[in-house]
Amino acid sequence: MSTSITKVVFPIAGLGTRFLPATKAIPKEMLPVADRPLIQYAVQEALEAGIEEFIFVTNPTNHPILESHFSANADLEATLAERGKTAELKIVAEATLGDDQIKFCYQDEPLGLGHAVWCAKEYVADGPFAVILPDDLIQAKPGCLKQMMDVHAQRGGNVVAVENVAPNLTNRYGILDVTKEDGPLVEAKGLVEKPQPEDAPSTLSIIGRYILDGQVFAHLDKGLTGAGGEIQLTDAISATIGEVPFHGLRFEGTRYDCGSMYGFVEANVAFGLERSSQSQEMREYLKRHL
Ligand code: UTP
Repeated sequence: MSTSITKVVFPIAGLGTRFLPATKAIPKEMLPVADRPLIQYAVQEALEAGIEEFIFVTNPTNHPILESHFSANADLEATLAERGKTAELKIVAEATLGDDQIKFCYQDEPLGLGHAVWCAKEYVADGPFAVILPDDLIQAKPGCLKQMMDVHAQRGGNVVAVENVAPNLTNRYGILDVTKEDGPLVEAKGLVEKPQPEDAPSTLSIIGRYILDGQVFAHLDKGLTGAGGEIQLTDAISATIGEVPFHGLRFEGTRYDCGSMYGFVEANVAFGLERSSQSQEMREYLKRHL
């Protein structure tokens, strides 16, 4: 069943309205959590899962900022080398991808996540591919995408990461209509995008990690709008149920919703505490303020 997945799509063309004015001139995905931008955590998670090609769906404003972050910076590297800063050189190297590893495509208008993924079709249509929403930051070992790859190797089809949300929050997520549970894996007969709590078939929500079969494009090609008047990725996934296997994985790890201010601050505390150089000071600061 194993099909190797080597491509990931990062949809980064949303408006990021909840983070204005921070996102007026930079994409939300460039906001740093602890010492690195959200997009870099996403790239690292993808690399750990075996991804070789990184496809950024963005727009002309955000493109140069993202490209510059992942490009080599010869001047900076020369200065660090001259000053003997080997640890810093390593950090800079980790944030650099080869030109052949990165592709950019544009979403001219933010018409929805399904439309953003459709914009990457020319790069991924022929095979299964991964999608990561970098503002869902996941602290996990192994990384969430690696966990999903292992499921995909066994089951194929579409695999999404899922977690339970509070019943009053179903209208923020794609929610599964579950038919069968098998340990951390679930099967569903449908998906509903942002249902009101009274209409939600469960509280099991899809979070920003997907492994998708090329079959989703048969539905995205139609350009149909769904909840909120947007072209929804969940509608395309839902339409493939019965055509390809579909599994939700209750991943091991903690997700931070860095698209919201609370989740972003929470992630900064969690990842800050993880950095050994800072964690003692941070712990003391937190104790003083609790
Ligand atoms: P969000 O729902 O968080 O929307 O998108 P947003 O525009 O980024 O932020 P808010 O709600 O206005 O604050 C989830 C992911 O889908 C991408 C976003 O960039 C983000 O990674 N997206 C969304 C697109 O690339 N294009 C779209 O049309 C919509």
